[in-house]
Amino acid sequence: MSTYKVRLYTDCDYDKVKEILTSGMFEHQAAAFYHALSLPHNWLALLVGFLLPLVTTGYFALSMVGVVSVMVALWVSIRGLIRYCVKKGLEGDLKDIEGYYMRKGHCFWVAESAGEVVGTVAAAPLPGGEKSTELKRMSVASTHRGKGVAKMLCRTLIDFARKSGCSMVVLHTTSVQFDAVRLYEKMGFRHVDTSYQGSLINWLLGFIWVTYRYDIPANK
Ligand SMILES: CC(C)(COP(=O)(O)OP(=O)(O)OC[C@H]1O[C@@H](n2cnc3c(N)ncnc32)[C@H](O)[C@@H]1OP(=O)(O)O)[C@@H](O)C(=O)NCCC(=O)NCCS
Repeated sequence: MSTYKVRLYTDCDYDKVKEILTSGMFEHQAAAFYHALSLPHNWLALLVGFLLPLVTTGYFALSMVGVVSVMVALWVSIRGLIRYCVKKGLEGDLKDIEGYYMRKGHCFWVAESAGEVVGTVAAAPLPGGEKSTELKRMSVASTHRGKGVAKMLCRTLIDFARKSGCSMVVLHTTSVQFDAVRLYEKMGFRHVDTSYQGSLINWLLGFIWVTYRYDIPANK
């Protein structure tokens, strides 16, 4: 544990931060695919993919092509959705991290080990009546997982939110980010909402967004 330290982001960290965040997002592709395959409406699509060519042509081999096509369509759609999220981030808050995060109510930290950036997390204020901070951009390089780096980053952010006078920390993740969900629940966040964020493709792929909230005790 003592080999890791958390410090503020500087622009020299940009390439490594981008790499950690991008690979952290793409690694959920397989989990998202298996989740999509477990959904009843996708079983139906697979059944149609199997039966339609069989009934119309009588060739079993074409049925297999039908099933594989549905699976490929799911895989490509999930990849496209993740790619869209990555692009949106890189064109949004991650385009100029210092400019976006190094200002009042915002912050971006990196975890470092032996001079190498191994993890990231960011804070941004949430609009609304209650003063709250959103936890964003949590990611740890796969070679440094399970060593408490994310917990250190989480504590740094909660401390920042407390010192900024916030009453809560809120975050959004997806139901297939299993390690992240375990991390947040372990840190005392509680699940407050689940949504498909209104998009048909999200519903088809079962891409469920979950919201977690951590209430900061008033006296601490
Ligand atoms: C989620 C993530 C940030 C966790 O990073 P980490 O540094 O490995 O996490 P920590 O070592 O600090 O572990 C914190 C807690 O999370 C849970 N956890 C994390 N990874 C786990 C795993 N593979 N299996 C079981 N529990 C796990 C544990 O409860 C752990 O506490 P414990 O070790 O005291 O039991 C990391 O897996 C990651 O970067 N994933 C890809 C990107 C991502 O999903 N980011 C979240 C976006 S919302």
